Amino acid sequence: METAASAGRVTMEEITALAKRRGFIFQSSEIYGGINGFWDYGPLGAVLKANVKRAWWRDTVDLRDDVVAFDAAIIMHPSVWQASGHVDAFSDVMVDCKVCKHRFRLDHLADRSKCPDCGSTNSFTEPRSFNLMLRTSVGPMEDTSSQAYLRPETAQGIFVNFKNIYQTARKRPPFGVAQIGKSFRNEITPGNFTFRVREFEQAELEYFVPDDGKDLEVFAQWVERRKAWYAAYGIAADRLRFYELTEEERPHYARAGVDVEYLFPWGWGELESIAHRGTYDLDAHMRLSGKDLRFFDEATKTHYTPLLIESSAGIDRTILTFLVDACERERSVDPNGKETERTVLRFHPQIAPVQVAVFSLARNKPELVERARTIETALRRAFRTSYDEGNIGQLYRRQDEIGTPFCITVDYETIGDGSVTVRERDSMRQERVKGDALEAHLEARL
Ligand code: GAP
Repeated sequence: METAASAGRVTMEEITALAKRRGFIFQSSEIYGGINGFWDYGPLGAVLKANVKRAWWRDTVDLRDDVVAFDAAIIMHPSVWQASGHVDAFSDVMVDCKVCKHRFRLDHLADRSKCPDCGSTNSFTEPRSFNLMLRTSVGPMEDTSSQAYLRPETAQGIFVNFKNIYQTARKRPPFGVAQIGKSFRNEITPGNFTFRVREFEQAELEYFVPDDGKDLEVFAQWVERRKAWYAAYGIAADRLRFYELTEEERPHYARAGVDVEYLFPWGWGELESIAHRGTYDLDAHMRLSGKDLRFFDEATKTHYTPLLIESSAGIDRTILTFLVDACERERSVDPNGKETERTVLRFHPQIAPVQVAVFSLARNKPELVERARTIETALRRAFRTSYDEGNIGQLYRRQDEIGTPFCITVDYETIGDGSVTVRERDSMRQERVKGDALEAHLEARL
């Protein structure tokens, strides 16, 4: 199997270190020793996250006239999770090592007789089922009547509101509802940086279709659309696969299922699941609530329960994919014959937290600083920009590491003729561009 080393890729340790060093991702509550399964997005990470969400939203909602937006509460009536099956069945089987006291998911153990952490043999407890929902209580009394859950997926908020949504948005199947929001799962073994965490964001599309024989075609169209999305933002095709679930691997009610997987340094990991869920979810809520959630077709005066096609992507896993996929350590020889190495994040320009960095060649020359600041302020209207000054080599190195596609340097020539040096991240090519042509030059390339 391909490994990080064999493919000349960075390791997870290097990605984690870079994410911290450059302000993408920090361990949550670090000064108190951290809390397992929770991460904070730093100044650049927060922008990266917003860009990833915007890119998903643009393709899934803005560019379509058949998908509407939604934003449900994180805490919902506990019956929602009863109906959805999460209370009874949303669990993993775990075991504890009696020697080192570490806990493992049974399905993650390669050898069920030997502890992978301390090496003890036959030290595991009997397997136990562990519900993954995080509990909280609502209101001043902490008893069973106040018990509630932090949602483990965003989708249920859409299902229970199906009627409110289609009536107010005046939509008829086929149409979709999209939502991005936080979800929580009390994972037994969080790990692989932000891949398996206890608090994460999901981007979910619930697409409702009539049972008219075209449902599998629509399913295939969504798979293609998601494929095109990953390709458009530059994810390497040979590290992405769309795994078609067999009938045995799918839940009994699902008519089709595809897992989108990425080849991380530790192996393949799921980024998104695309599933044809039939009428399972709406049926379950109708049964428990006793409310009619069927679609009423005004034209034919008939009620029917639409079929559901779901695409559910993890935002944090997508961000991790963008980071891992974009990151390269590159060796080159400079014009003096000296071998140099740089780390570069080859982010797509729409994903990059900073699109254009503007530098003054010297920080103690007011005329250069002022000109550079003026240029940066003017470009802000069109691009995500940042200003910096000092040693140009170091500034380039920093911008390469955060994935900035273009750097602009203001120097003494700029004062004379208004031209600046534009340096492109991937090729490191530099060219002189006239001040009045700068915005158009960048616009064409970004
Ligand atoms: N509504 C369907 C649903 O939630 P899922 O396969 O359980 O399906 C969808 O989750 C996506 O959510 C996953 O493909 C993954 O990207 C993300 N996800 C799930 N659990 C996660 C976790 N513990 N940490 C980070 N992301 C997670």
